[in-house]
Amino acid sequence: MAWLFLKVLLVGVSFLGCLYPLVDFCFSGETRAPKPNFVIILADDMGWGDLGANWAETKDTANLDQMAAEGMRFVDFHAAASTCSPSRAALLTGRLGLRNGVTHNFAVTSVGGLPLNETTLAEVLKQAGYVTGMIGKWHLGHHSSYHPNFRGFDYYFGIPYSHDMGCTDSPGYNLPPCPACPRGEGPSRSPDRDCYTDVALPLYENLRIVEQPVNLSGLAHRYAEKATQFIQRASASGRPFLLYVGLAHMHVPLTRTQLSADPQGRAPYAAGLREMDGLVGQIKDGADRTAKGNTFLWFTVIVFRRAGGSL
Ligand SMILES: *[C@@H]1O[C@H](CO)[C@@H](O)[C@H](O)[C@H]1NC(C)=O
Ligand SMILES: *[C@@H]1O[C@H](CO)[C@@H](O)[C@H](O)[C@H]1NC(C)=O
Repeated sequence: MAWLFLKVLLVGVSFLGCLYPLVDFCFSGETRAPKPNFVIILADDMGWGDLGANWAETKDTANLDQMAAEGMRFVDFHAAASTCSPSRAALLTGRLGLRNGVTHNFAVTSVGGLPLNETTLAEVLKQAGYVTGMIGKWHLGHHSSYHPNFRGFDYYFGIPYSHDMGCTDSPGYNLPPCPACPRGEGPSRSPDRDCYTDVALPLYENLRIVEQPVNLSGLAHRYAEKATQFIQRASASGRPFLLYVGLAHMHVPLTRTQLSADPQGRAPYAAGLREMDGLVGQIKDGADRTAKGNTFLWFTVIVFRRAGGSL
């Protein structure tokens, strides 16, 4: 187990690995030590200064700042890649893209995914008796055997790839803004080449599409609910668990959930940060309620956002 855990720490990582500790576990190799639970939260396209713990002027990340203050920080970790699919593939396999075969992002039209001969962390932990769940953005292939339910995850709730790869209801905030999914018989192609409208973005629960197009407003809330449920059920089962949460935050389009409710009229980006931080806080609360003392909660980020752009 120690070996496995260290391997994870060494690969998936980024400018800030924040490991929220849970005290009474040690890697002594004692066979009678309880198996720890793992919650891995991966954020997308965040900047260094987006975190109050790194940049005092940022006031939007209270939960993460608290985790950084109470937990262990890894400030010189590096993601294996600065793009969606390769960073996720490396995180889950412990292998760089050149070895695991994922060096580029998968597209809506991709028929493949993370090569099937690769072993994921979820598969390894499942074999060790873990209940395994994935919530959020997968982006490692969405057809047939590439789906998360066939890559070691007992439970999956989320979107198969980035949320800018398909139209949504309601569309998120972006520049230029994208329209909602076309209705009726009208022309389906958006005049703007940055907006994909051919395939509406689906939301999956396990193998089933539960909503298409997905409603981006409220998606973070649903993720929090599903994550909490997963943690509760896994804890009740008496088995250790792995929960991997792939956030779409802070990748554009940003959700509009909190914009109108924000009394200061804050910028959409700050509202998105708050939404993400709130989601992380809810997941941490869920773990604290049911599995405190034996859970490692790890928050990490795949990439610094380039000025004015996204990856
Ligand atoms: C999977 O197959 C590819 C192509 O043969 C190879 O490069 C890769 O190393 C294999 N992966 C594993 C884990 O054996
Ligand atoms: C999307 O969800 C939000 C809040 O969850 C709701 O207010 C809105 O009406 C929904 N939009 C559509 C198109 O269903």
